[in-house]
Amino acid sequence: MKYEIIHNTSTSSVHRLTLPKIGFGTWKIGGESSADPTTDSVSLAALHFALEVGYTHFDTAEMYANGHAEDLLGKAVRSSKVKREALFITSKVTPSHLKYKLVLKACENSLRRLKMDYVDLYLIHWPQVGMKLEETFRALNKLVRDGKVKHLGVSNFNLKLLKQSQSFSETPIITNQVPYRLPDHAYIKNGVLEYCQQNDILVTAYSPVQFRSIRVNKTLGEIAKAHSATPFQIALAWLVMQPRVITIPMSFDPKHIKENFDAADISLSADEMQRLDNAWNKNDE
Ligand SMILES: NC(=O)c1ccc[n+]([C@@H]2O[C@H](COP(=O)([O-])OP(=O)(O)OC[C@H]3O[C@@H](n4cnc5c(N)ncnc54)[C@H](OP(=O)(O)O)[C@@H]3O)[C@@H](O)[C@H]2O)c1
Repeated sequence: MKYEIIHNTSTSSVHRLTLPKIGFGTWKIGGESSADPTTDSVSLAALHFALEVGYTHFDTAEMYANGHAEDLLGKAVRSSKVKREALFITSKVTPSHLKYKLVLKACENSLRRLKMDYVDLYLIHWPQVGMKLEETFRALNKLVRDGKVKHLGVSNFNLKLLKQSQSFSETPIITNQVPYRLPDHAYIKNGVLEYCQQNDILVTAYSPVQFRSIRVNKTLGEIAKAHSATPFQIALAWLVMQPRVITIPMSFDPKHIKENFDAADISLSADEMQRLDNAWNKNDE
């Protein structure tokens, strides 16, 4: 299922972009903070299966496995039947690379590892204390102008930094990628979710099932049963039923990879959404 995003249709900066509600995360593909080539076959199998199932949005970062996640993602795409143009690839620049020349270099390195000419979306992975956001965006804007990056976004940005980013970016900020899941409402409380929903910015919810640590309470269990779905599928459906919210779960397990993909088609009623909101607002925070 695709999520149609239409930016600013009432102004001259019309911007149309179609993104799937559920993409595939790559943290732990190829290692964790450093590359671990002993896990390549498992990682490539997960990526191949995700491509086969039909995922088209892949989220990676120069930081993941110290670049090796990008190596493997590129390799999996090249050996699949899926055309590069049919995919939406997100990568991220590391907080220590936010100076002008370092941003340009970081993007070059990501493209070299991916063996791709461009990424669809390039994010600032985390804000850095003392960063000069205007300088970073000078480099990011150049990457867009040069065609190496199609769209820009940020990650882990609070409302103030998000608004600053909008003012420095020559193209619309497409997303703020933040932690968001049933038990974690930090980005509701800080106003980011509402602001994004009102300003045509996607919230990309990361760690949506948080390594299976979502407690299956009575409400989640009952709703899962009613939909013949797993509680984790309902946790994903709860996210992407919300306007302007997409998500990027990660899994090595083919069963979970398929279940997560299919969760985009689960339709929760307004009452079920409300019950899930209430269950966590009242009991789990
Ligand atoms: N921007 C940022 O700062 C940031 C931070 C963290 C993550 N991210 C991105 O967000 C992606 C997702 O976050 P994440 O990897 O931290 O956490 P996650 O996707 O919420 O959780 C992944 C874990 O949950 C399990 N899992 C996934 N689907 C499942 C299902 N249907 N049923 C049961 N277990 C399931 C997986 O185990 P199995 O392998 O056994 O299925 C894996 O251990 C990352 O891969 C990364 O791309 C971004």
